[in-house]
Amino acid sequence: MSETDMTLKAGNAAWPVNQWYVAAYSHEVSRKPLHRWLLGKPVVLYRTESGEPVALFDRCPHRGLRLSAGSLVGNEIQCTYHGLRFGTDGRCTAIPSGGPISPRMRIDSYPAVESWRFIWIWTGDAALADPSLVPDVGVFGFGAKGWHDEPSGLLPLKANWLLPFENLLDASHISFLHHGLIDSGNVALLPFVMQENGASLRVTRTIENEQMSPLTAKTFGFRGDRLNRSIIADAVVPSLCGIRVEVTSPDDPTSVPRINQLIVGITPETLTTTYEFTAVAQSFPFENPNREEDVRNLLMEDVVAMEDIQQLFARLGAEKSTELSVQSDAAVMRMRRIVAGLLEQEKSP
Ligand code: FES
Ligand SMILES: [Fe+2]
Repeated sequence: MSETDMTLKAGNAAWPVNQWYVAAYSHEVSRKPLHRWLLGKPVVLYRTESGEPVALFDRCPHRGLRLSAGSLVGNEIQCTYHGLRFGTDGRCTAIPSGGPISPRMRIDSYPAVESWRFIWIWTGDAALADPSLVPDVGVFGFGAKGWHDEPSGLLPLKANWLLPFENLLDASHISFLHHGLIDSGNVALLPFVMQENGASLRVTRTIENEQMSPLTAKTFGFRGDRLNRSIIADAVVPSLCGIRVEVTSPDDPTSVPRINQLIVGITPETLTTTYEFTAVAQSFPFENPNREEDVRNLLMEDVVAMEDIQQLFARLGAEKSTELSVQSDAAVMRMRRIVAGLLEQEKSP
């Protein structure tokens, strides 16, 4: 581990700003302004008359009211206090009570892009906000022909963003934290294969002829009690994680696997709170009518643990909150190094 990595702790880790992060699901953003604290800033999200997403700093520069408390006039947002209006570029366009409009009367406008059913935001240097850098969820099966996909729930959690990011990348915890629900106690024992490609990491674990766990049976609609399963954790550092589960029957291992793919957009709200935007795609039709609730209940087991870690971190302080890593943390440590590299890059001129 290098010095830089030592300073990066899940508890108070900063996030790279020159990145796309999920700001909202598409269906949440409309002609009614939506307020959300994102990446340490108050943001108002809305759509123009032609449906383009807009993201602005959500504070009127006049006397400081939230602009999201106001309303839209065409493509502009009007503050509900004294009626000042701002365009999609953040410039003030009207002061009803009169007088000149100073060029300083403006707010930050953030690049926003809609892709699949997410709205992505870039709060760093706008000149670097290349829409082609938005993580492609198509590679996970979203929007793919013959696949079925949908947004699942939005989970807010009181923990630094690095905690859920590492949690999703680390499948070794499912034998314990989710014992009985999605594992019958075997996953932690498995060897894993780690692959790296730029800012993407993949960790694969494969298990043959295992006892099927209840949620796996429900999700995949499998009969019988044994299956072959691969669990593939993907990280697109720093904003997206995926958990892909591929199953086949041990009686017919050459059959086309059934694939369930969870993705989670991880977006810091503040240094100690985070949003998880979850969505699911399957290579076969959805069969479990309670799937959204099941995913939520599963992830809540993680949320409880993350929030517990964060609380201890806050009370002990960063210095005393040391971490000792073990073999299965290889991917997490690699991920931290990538994050540290991105943060370092943003510091240098
Ligand atoms: S505070 Fe917004 S117009 Fe006065
Ligand atoms: Fe988990």
